Amino acid sequence: MSFLELAKKRYAVRNFLTKPVEQEKLKVILEAGRVAPTGANKQPQELIVVQESSGFEKLKKATNFYGAPLVIIVCGNKNTVWTRPYDGKNLIDIDTSIVTDHMMMQATELGLGTIWICYFRLDVVKTEFNLPENIEPVNILGIGYASGKAASPDRHGKMRKPLSEIVSYETFQH
Ligand SMILES: Cc1cc2nc3c(=O)[nH]c(=O)nc-3n(C[C@H](O)[C@H](O)[C@H](O)COP(=O)(O)O)c2cc1C
Repeated sequence: MSFLELAKKRYAVRNFLTKPVEQEKLKVILEAGRVAPTGANKQPQELIVVQESSGFEKLKKATNFYGAPLVIIVCGNKNTVWTRPYDGKNLIDIDTSIVTDHMMMQATELGLGTIWICYFRLDVVKTEFNLPENIEPVNILGIGYASGKAASPDRHGKMRKPLSEIVSYETFQH
């Protein structure tokens, strides 16, 4: 399957089977997160794997993770992330999101469904998972075997803007 075919196949899964994700698959997913590029190769990602009921009880207080049997809380280390000297912008959201995307697409390639979650209570995640001040949770990735009907890989014709609305050539045109 080409990358574009895989990308079109992926969809936000909000119903999961209770079937656990195999530990071998988890390792491959984490490896995809490890090799992801980050600004200046600073590798600020800190990944918290949740797959036990005690962790899910804590997570429930912070967000709806749709019953995913495996959840990875993708955090960034504010002390190690690269910061652009001109204006002080740090890359924590960008780096952690590239890591998240790598893991999401790897999970898709392994036949798993995923849900990317940003709608969570930041302070609750920080408290429940004992995060120090410098560790910021940015994304939560739910992973598992999807239940129900898969979204069509052809849905993007209607569900995404056409290229003409998002691309300009040579100068900004919208
Ligand atoms: C950065 C980001 C944050 C998201 N946060 C949530 C979320 O908190 N809860 C949720 O149900 N879906 C969330 N989603 C899933 C999007 O709603 C979904 O990807 C989008 O509607 C497109 O649908 P599709 O992934 O099925 O193509 C998020 C996706 C992204 C990329």
